[in-house]
Amino acid sequence: MDYYGLIGPLVRLMPAEAAHDAALFALRARLVPASPAFQHPVLATECFGLSFGNPVGLAAGFDKNAAVVDALFAQGFGFVETGTVTPLPQPGNPRPRIFRLSEDQAIINRLGFNNEGAHRFVANMKQHRSAGILGANISKNRDSLDAAYDYATCLEAVYPYASYITINISSPNTVGLRDLQQKDALSSLMKTISMKRDEIAKATGKRKPVLYKIAPDLSPQDRQDIVETAMAHFVDGLIVTNTTVTRPGDLKSRHRGEQGGLSGAPLKALALETLADIYRLSQGRIPLIGVGGIGSAEDAYARIRAGASLVQVYTALVYQGFGLVRRINEGLVKLLERDGFKSIREAVGKGSR
Ligand SMILES: Cc1cc2nc3c(=O)[nH]c(=O)nc-3n(C[C@H](O)[C@H](O)[C@H](O)COP(=O)(O)O)c2cc1C
Repeated sequence: MDYYGLIGPLVRLMPAEAAHDAALFALRARLVPASPAFQHPVLATECFGLSFGNPVGLAAGFDKNAAVVDALFAQGFGFVETGTVTPLPQPGNPRPRIFRLSEDQAIINRLGFNNEGAHRFVANMKQHRSAGILGANISKNRDSLDAAYDYATCLEAVYPYASYITINISSPNTVGLRDLQQKDALSSLMKTISMKRDEIAKATGKRKPVLYKIAPDLSPQDRQDIVETAMAHFVDGLIVTNTTVTRPGDLKSRHRGEQGGLSGAPLKALALETLADIYRLSQGRIPLIGVGGIGSAEDAYARIRAGASLVQVYTALVYQGFGLVRRINEGLVKLLERDGFKSIREAVGKGSR
């Protein structure tokens, strides 16, 4: 039994958000034993100009304030995405606002971007020492009247300390946020953001990738519009997907009626299908990060073969512990070798067997 096998059942007796706070505390206090990255040449990959030791990343929302970055890298992730951070601190929605649907291996959350704000986030980012690839996921304050201004402000604040920046336009718990995925709004936002990025890149001499994170709850027309708009603005990549407001399948948990975004196993099919469609629509010309319901090496491999260059995990970590990162990487090596692929990149978009 690994460390998580010992403490997991205890942690799961706590309310979900208290368990999350306890996990952050344990990471910060270095109470969680390190699990160094599993290294294998077949796992090393390049994406949007960055070199990843392995393709398994931590999804946004676990370390919203970039407070435990070094401890997270010590768990073997190929990259860690912090945030979502907003320009000003905000408390988020009233508790309870995270629900574990254990029978369904899922979570519903309606946190509403609780975070300590960009100033604190940047101060935390300055503290960490790991050389790993660090994403900063940014968005707007709940009461902001000018979304583009908020994104631009956050972009400028986090830019020097992040390896890449994610524009989150898909969280379901901020009213109106997902409307930024609509064609005209998206085009205008992408224009503002790429001008801002180019301005900062010129001033600093460093061009950093900017990705957009999209929802699984999009019509075929929305998907088409997003791909066309992203290509027109030379977006560096898309993260597919955030949580869903739908309730797919036959959920068993008594929490299934809670409002918020659903993640974990029941999201898997929808997130996979969305990713495959975005890959097809973009003809593989936009690098994609696959996320949503990934809980095994087989899931990660299926996402890669559907078009993901990298993957991220969150909810499955809550049920399986950080040992999952190594299990996915070890399993991926076996699956890639079984199918004769010499690299992750070779397998991207190659379809299911
Ligand atoms: C408790 C919780 C908080 C989250 N917070 C954020 C967030 O702040 N920003 C974001 O882009 N995604 C957030 N997400 C979404 C995840 O990053 C991910 O896209 C989603 O959970 C699907 O992946 P999973 O099924 O592996 O969890 C959150 C998810 C959970 C469960």
